[in-house]
Amino acid sequence: MHQERLICDNVYYLGASDRRLNRFENIFPLPNGVTYNSYLVKDDKTVLLDTVDKAIEKPFLENLEYALDGRKLDYLIITHMECDHAASLAEVLLRHPELTLVGNAKTFALIEQFFDFKGHYNKLEVKDKETLDIGHHKFTFLFAPMVHWPEVMAVYEESNKMVFSADAFGTFGAFSGNIFSDEMNFFEEWLPEARRYYTNIVGKYGVQTVNLLKKLSDFEVNYICPLHGPIWRDKDLIAQFIEKYKIWASYAPEDNAVVIFYGTIYGATEDVATLLAGEIAKLGVKNIKMYDVSATDTSYLVSEAFRAKTLVFAAASYNAGLFPYMNILLDDLKEHSIQNRNVVLIENGSWALSAGKRMSDFISGMKNMTLLADTLSIKSSLKDEQLPVIYELARKIKDSL
Ligand code: FEO
Repeated sequence: MHQERLICDNVYYLGASDRRLNRFENIFPLPNGVTYNSYLVKDDKTVLLDTVDKAIEKPFLENLEYALDGRKLDYLIITHMECDHAASLAEVLLRHPELTLVGNAKTFALIEQFFDFKGHYNKLEVKDKETLDIGHHKFTFLFAPMVHWPEVMAVYEESNKMVFSADAFGTFGAFSGNIFSDEMNFFEEWLPEARRYYTNIVGKYGVQTVNLLKKLSDFEVNYICPLHGPIWRDKDLIAQFIEKYKIWASYAPEDNAVVIFYGTIYGATEDVATLLAGEIAKLGVKNIKMYDVSATDTSYLVSEAFRAKTLVFAAASYNAGLFPYMNILLDDLKEHSIQNRNVVLIENGSWALSAGKRMSDFISGMKNMTLLADTLSIKSSLKDEQLPVIYELARKIKDSL
C-alpha cells in the first residue's frame, strides 16, 4: 500500500511514521512517535535522498517502487549514515544494483563499517560545494560535519530552492496525514518536541550548526526537507524556525524564564523549591516551571534548560555525593555544552552536605555560567531564620530576567 506524497515538481516524500518505538536511539522517550523521511527526485535521472529505519522499510520500499513507476534508480545521495536513515541502504541496493551511491570520503568509510559491500557498488565521491546535475534539477553538496555525525552533508536543489537538511530542522513526532509544517499548529503544538529533538540530538554541536546556518544563508530557501518531522514550504514559518535554530545553536536563552530543577528524597528539598517558586511569583515573575528530576525524563529537562535564562538546581546529598537523577541531569547538560545561563544552587543534607560541591563542580565546568548567589545549604529542612535568604534569592532571580 503506497503512501508517497508529491512535494513539488517531481519531488516525492517517501517516508513514514513509527508510533511503536519506545525510545529514540534507545534513550529518548517518544510519546508522539517519530518519522523517518526520504525523498525521490525524478528528472532525466532519478535521485533518492536517504533511505529509512528498518521499522518502516516495507512502506518505504513500496513508496519508492510506486513513485519510480518502472524507472530505474540512478543515484542514492546519502546525507547521513546513522541507522535511522541508512538501515535500508542494502535493500535498495539489492533492488537497484545499477544505482550510484553519492557521498563523501567519510560516508564511504562508514558504509564499509556498517555493511559488507567491500566496495561492490557504483560510487560518486563528492567534495564540499560540488554539484550534481540531473537535467532540470541541480544539487549542491554542503558539508555539515557533526550535525550530527562527521559525514553529514546538507544538499541544496537549485530549481526548487530546496534544502535537504539531514538531521538539522528535524522534529520528534509522527505524522497524522499532514506532512507540511504549514498544515499543522507547529509553533503551538510541535515546538517543544522540535526543541527536545535539537537540544538532545544535535545540541552538543552548536558551533557546527551555526556553520551550517551560515552556509545556508548564501542560498534562497523555499523548502526545507529534514530527515525527521514536517517539511517546510512557507517562507514566514521557515524564517521563524531558522530564528529558533540560531538561538538554540548559539546557546542563547530562548525565553526570559526561570526553571527550577529539584531532586528530593522525602520532600524537604521539594518544599524549599516550592517556597522559592512562590516567592519568585510574588515578585511578578510569570511562567515559572518546576521539575522533579526523578519524575521527568532527562531529555525534557535538557530541553527546558536550553529554553530558560535562569536555572535553579536544588538537590539532596546522596552517598557522599549528589542525588543520582540530579547528577544525571547536570552531567547531561555539561555533555550538551549548555552555557550562558544564570544559576542558583541549593543543597540539602542531614549529616554530610555534599550535593553543593558536586553541583558547583559541574557548573564551573560549563562556559559563561553566572552564579547569582552562594549555594544555599539546608540541613534536613529549611529553618525560619533562613527565610530571608530565600527572599533574597527570589529577588536576585527576578532581577536576572
Ligand atoms: Fe536522524 Fe542522526 O539520525
